[in-house]
Amino acid sequence: MQQTIIGSDIKLAATLLTTGELVAIPTETVYGLAANGLDPLAIAKIYAAKNRPQFNPLILHIASFDQLALLVTEIPEACQRLISAFSPGPITYLLPKSALVPDIVTAGNNRVAVRIPDHLLTLELLSGISFPLAAPSANPSGYVSPVSAEHVLQGLSGKIPYILDGGHCRVGLESTIVGFEEGKIIIHRLGGITAEDIKMVTNIDPEVRLSHASPTAPGQLKSHYATSKPLLIGNIEQLVYLNPGKRIAVLSFQQSYHNLVSENIVLSSNGVLEEAAAGLFKAMRDMDCLDIDVILAERFPEEGIGRAINDRLERAAYREKR
Ligand code: TXA
Ligand code: MG
Repeated sequence: MQQTIIGSDIKLAATLLTTGELVAIPTETVYGLAANGLDPLAIAKIYAAKNRPQFNPLILHIASFDQLALLVTEIPEACQRLISAFSPGPITYLLPKSALVPDIVTAGNNRVAVRIPDHLLTLELLSGISFPLAAPSANPSGYVSPVSAEHVLQGLSGKIPYILDGGHCRVGLESTIVGFEEGKIIIHRLGGITAEDIKMVTNIDPEVRLSHASPTAPGQLKSHYATSKPLLIGNIEQLVYLNPGKRIAVLSFQQSYHNLVSENIVLSSNGVLEEAAAGLFKAMRDMDCLDIDVILAERFPEEGIGRAINDRLERAAYREKR
């Protein structure tokens, strides 16, 4: 057990990372749990602290795309367009890895995931070190991703020395993960940059191919982002009716259900999907702390970042294998 400190000392964070320690870092999407991305021993500590399965690969974070050339062997034209349009920002590129990238980063895959996070503190940190940062979301494996330093502390206190506090994450959902196959763009994870955004810049209609069962290929476990309280998605009135006698909390987009239940978080009373996305994980965590039996969540419009919100809710609701 070690003491976990929250602070905003970039120099201290850089020193810890350079000496092979873990530091939680803020990004515009969610907080990451970072280690020197070229140091297999430091990276092994990430898997241990998160209790993360070894087959689930990690994203490398860099400050600028000058560094990208060292980590990958090819950058397709469509990728270059996306980089110019959206990086720094909530998008991750899956590209053929160079020999410099340790196998523990990619879990043996021949592609590496790389992104430039859009957060001033972390960009400054990255500019001051000579290596990329490998960083998954800074939560115990399977739980809801953290969007504040306090959330990181709740899950990883005693397991890491330092949390760099950069405030509440602006986007609030993880980055979109894209791969490139023979002129096609494949979205492997829905996130901060939408399919519509990608089409607008590349003129290519991206194929959404979310992998659920086997995370060895571009990976995502189906059961993920899970609250410890059961979460059901659907029509709220119906779900309330189907759960008599239960203590219920409702997570809704625009509409208030305070006439039906006493606990209700409305994510965006003005119906703005980005605002709802930014508040989603905090709301899920807050509800998990309430004295309730079940969380009921509304389904969101299947457009823009609404698709990514629905994806996270569905993974949170999926319980069969636990
Ligand atoms: O917004 C984000 O992407 C955040 C912040 C911290 O940058 N990071 C994040 O990391 O969400 P993580 O590890 O929680 O999710 C990364 C996803 C995982 O589903 C992983 O399987 C996939 O990316 N992934 C990483 N490297 C991969 C690779 N080489 N091939 C296929 N999938 C990969
Ligand atoms: Mg994660």
